[in-house]
Amino acid sequence: MELIDGKKVSQEIKKEIALEVQSILAAGGKRPTLAAILVGHDGGSETYVANKIKACEECGFNSKLIRFESDVTEEQLLDAIKELNSDDDVDGFIVQLPLPKHISEQKVIEVIDYKKDVDGFHPINVGRMSIGLPCFKSATPAGIMMLLERYNIQTSGARVVVLGRSNIVGKPVATMLMQKGYPGNATVTVCHSATKDIKEICKEADIIIAALGQPGFVTADMVKPGATIIDVGTTRVPDATKKSGFRLSGDVDFQNVAPLCSFITPVPGGVGPMTITSLMKNTLLAASKAVYK
Ligand code: GUN
Repeated sequence: MELIDGKKVSQEIKKEIALEVQSILAAGGKRPTLAAILVGHDGGSETYVANKIKACEECGFNSKLIRFESDVTEEQLLDAIKELNSDDDVDGFIVQLPLPKHISEQKVIEVIDYKKDVDGFHPINVGRMSIGLPCFKSATPAGIMMLLERYNIQTSGARVVVLGRSNIVGKPVATMLMQKGYPGNATVTVCHSATKDIKEICKEADIIIAALGQPGFVTADMVKPGATIIDVGTTRVPDATKKSGFRLSGDVDFQNVAPLCSFITPVPGGVGPMTITSLMKNTLLAASKAVYK
């Protein structure tokens, strides 16, 4: 069994990005800039945004944080997005999700200029991704693809089972894995809450991507010996032994599943760091106009 070290891979990629930034600056170009909008004070969102800003520093990017309290109106938020759309200093930006219930996430996503949509959530980017055109790819699935590539994991002809059908992970990772090329060419099955015989389906899989947000869902009896497991789960569970009072739990019963696998991602330190690194990659692409002019 080999552990897939997402932390190490993400450090390597951030170093590569920082070198590219140096050569952009040396050639007289400008420093890439990422902006983030954060609404309210959700603990998870605060941590994610702080980590994104730290990653910007590591890559040599400028970052800009725009905060709103959770009673911000939809109109105020949409106005702030429009301002970023037309701000030439900002190459790309994100609106951290989830948003308070009185704000339509879909409306927010569709107001973002798709050329600055480094999260890859705008329907234009999603649509272009699904037909294999250049676009900003959603960060978590793109991070998973980078891990499969860096660990040389065979995907062509592989049976992949994706657990979960979210717009952020399940659907896009299934789409990416079925595209022609590497890492792709896989035969993909997507399972969700209405799927029958989920155990039997998982047992056939060469690769399982677990993204349903249910701690410990994937148990040893669902895994074929030699399979590769990518665990996208990051549920906060109470843990009195931790300073924060919680720990992150993946969707896989790691202790019992890991010995069966050829490769497996830990939680934390697997997919998580890669998500942020993909966002940095997309920001570099936005700044260098490598996807859209
Ligand atoms: N919330 C959970 N994941 C993400 C992400 O990748 N981007 C944004 N903006 N919000 C999220």
